Amino acid sequence: MDSNQSREHVDLIREVFSYNRRFQNALFVLKIDSQIIDHSYFSLLVKDLALLHQNGIKIIIIPGAKDRIDEILTRYEIPYHSEVGVRISTEESINFIKMAAFDVSNKVMTLLSGSNIPSVIGSWVKARALGVVNGVDYQHTGKVDRIRTDAVETLLNEGHIPIFPCIGWNNNGDPYNISSDELATMIARKMEASKLFFLSAEDVLTKQGINLPDDISMSNEGRLSKLSISQAEQFIARNSENPLTGKIRMAVEACREGVNRVHILDGRIEGVVLQEIFSNLGIGTMIYSNIYERIRPMKRQDISSVLSLMKPFINQKILVPRGREELEDGLGDYFVYDMDGIIHGCGGLHLYDDGKAEVAGIAVDSKFNHLKIGRKIVSYLIEQARERRLKAVFVLTTQTSDWFLEMGFTPGTLEDLPVEKREKYNKDRNSRILIYRTE
Ligand SMILES: CC(C)(COP(=O)(O)OP(=O)(O)OC[C@H]1O[C@@H](n2cnc3c(N)ncnc32)[C@H](O)[C@@H]1OP(=O)(O)O)[C@@H](O)C(=O)NCCC(=O)NCCS
Repeated sequence: MDSNQSREHVDLIREVFSYNRRFQNALFVLKIDSQIIDHSYFSLLVKDLALLHQNGIKIIIIPGAKDRIDEILTRYEIPYHSEVGVRISTEESINFIKMAAFDVSNKVMTLLSGSNIPSVIGSWVKARALGVVNGVDYQHTGKVDRIRTDAVETLLNEGHIPIFPCIGWNNNGDPYNISSDELATMIARKMEASKLFFLSAEDVLTKQGINLPDDISMSNEGRLSKLSISQAEQFIARNSENPLTGKIRMAVEACREGVNRVHILDGRIEGVVLQEIFSNLGIGTMIYSNIYERIRPMKRQDISSVLSLMKPFINQKILVPRGREELEDGLGDYFVYDMDGIIHGCGGLHLYDDGKAEVAGIAVDSKFNHLKIGRKIVSYLIEQARERRLKAVFVLTTQTSDWFLEMGFTPGTLEDLPVEKREKYNKDRNSRILIYRTE
């Protein structure tokens, strides 16, 4: 192994450890299409999920059953058809649909048992009829009314993986066939999942044959690796016929309601979930909610506003003095929190040669305190440092140490500072040194 390869290995090991810390107790919801459940790699996928679960990540699985339902209805010679892509579940077919839905869930459960992971198939979904839409009676096709999240939460805390068949029941116990995409989206929203995965048998999105907004960036191999909510909305408007548009629409819905990230993946790729989460640009398409939407780099014309924002804190000696010239020189280091053209907060990230950076000049207009603007600015700066693969950020503070400690900073010493900063350390100011390790 050459030194580059071993460096990559070490980086990966570090990433796995840090992932472990960041996602302890986080919830991942996975919708897996039926073609993937029938795929030869599926048992490996289940093993990967078992690994994540053993490492403290909570998991919910929603197996899609479309192909299995078609297969069973065909075998029993029960006619079926769909309207606008939605199956009409007749009185005659619903029991067979139920059988198929539980059959795929059972397959998932059996494989999980093979990895010693306890799982439960349950009836946690209250559903109601889709009813008659544009004159079409969808009969036993339903939509999600409510999810019994308390019961699911208890199972998750006890270390089980809940498996949701695509069936819900009304208060009379009548079954309804529900869309498993819709179900997965609803579960992720209601249970505030960190991530929602859609694993289907579709090729990953590339620019081939797709009409894209101008500001979309591609991975080197031409894959659409990530979309913000607004980019995803533009994608939907321009590509209504694309087979993944429906999933992107659900992803937007989920992100708008608090799911941080939705990953649309080609489930036919071996190790797809691990590759997606442990590689920088992933392997599929990620739709993400951007809590940093209002944060942008400072422009020259913002400098006056930033100076007046900092002034009261400079006067109180909470911030070290900065003038126009200093901000102009460090233009690329500063970011502002911009709400409808008015700057409510700011912060800077000064890079040093030894892989560390200083978080500095954090200030929030006191009229807008307690809105987590300050916290968002700091975590944005930490993300910037992570993207640049820096090892740590530090802050020097006299009166705000508790606030930084609450965000995960830990006390440091002069030795933790880059040499250049150590030499400039102002002993009279005697600031506390706090460190945040990004790895
Ligand atoms: C510290 C500061 C950035 C927080 O901004 P903010 O947008 O109100 O912060 P958040 O909403 O994320 O956090 C607010 C919480 O931090 C707490 N907090 C604010 N200042 C604090 C301090 N000096 N020490 C400890 N906690 C503090 C608040 O009590 C509040 O608690 P609550 O949410 O329980 O009500 C802002 O008060 C500020 O500009 N202070 C002066 C400049 C400064 O101290 N900069 C940091 C030095 S580099």
